[in-house]
Amino acid sequence: MSEKHIQCEDETLIIAIDGPAASGKSTTARLVADKLGYMYIDTGAMYRAVTLKTIRRFGAQYTEEDVAALLPETHIELRREDNHSAHTSIKVFLDDEEVTSDIRSQEVSAEVSRVSAIPRVRERLVALQREMSKNERVVLDGRDIGTVVFPHADVKVYLVASIEERARRRQKELQDQSAATLNASIDDLAARLATRDRFDSTRDHSPLSCAPDALRLDTTNMTIECQVEAVLELASQGIKKI
Ligand code: DC
Repeated sequence: MSEKHIQCEDETLIIAIDGPAASGKSTTARLVADKLGYMYIDTGAMYRAVTLKTIRRFGAQYTEEDVAALLPETHIELRREDNHSAHTSIKVFLDDEEVTSDIRSQEVSAEVSRVSAIPRVRERLVALQREMSKNERVVLDGRDIGTVVFPHADVKVYLVASIEERARRRQKELQDQSAATLNASIDDLAARLATRDRFDSTRDHSPLSCAPDALRLDTTNMTIECQVEAVLELASQGIKKI
């Protein structure tokens, strides 16, 4: 893959990558950020961190008010770790505790759509995402980056893939993480992804949707290298409107 250099007039250059669960957003966004030397913000990790705190405090019995009351005392940080490998990794901190793998549990995945649909959670995290991006060159991935967080992002990409392919990717991810989840079948994972997609795309507040000016990329049969190349190509052209 060739190195790309982006010419931009503005101080800030925002690359927004949205799409449904397991469509390859975070891997693509992280590699694009690595290539360009940009900051990477995994906004899903931020919603997951609030969900983890909610579950720890209330279990599955909580109201919107309960979650909203947690927000002023919640501190989320994404710390970049340069571990001397080819790629930088991001560690997630919740109130100064490292929760990078805790936020990927099945319990959090099952609850995160509900927590992230709460308007006050969204307002708080969107404000934080904008603040973190101030005067930075950033790649953000999520569900509403190109539509709500940065509707004027310089580059917008919307990744999709078939549900079977996304379930396969999620199964591999889980297998890489822990032997305990080896039993999750493709059908089971596909059903869970479909439920989450439905919830995320039908909620009232900033639902998952493709911005009209985003490049829609079906990654079902694409390698991760091709996905990264496609985003870099778009970025190098400085395309704002397709
Ligand atoms: O990308 P992910 O699977 O880690 O995201 C977890 C959940 O967080 C997802 O189901 C919906 C929510 N989310 C959101 O509502 N808005 C974002 N910008 C990112 C994630």
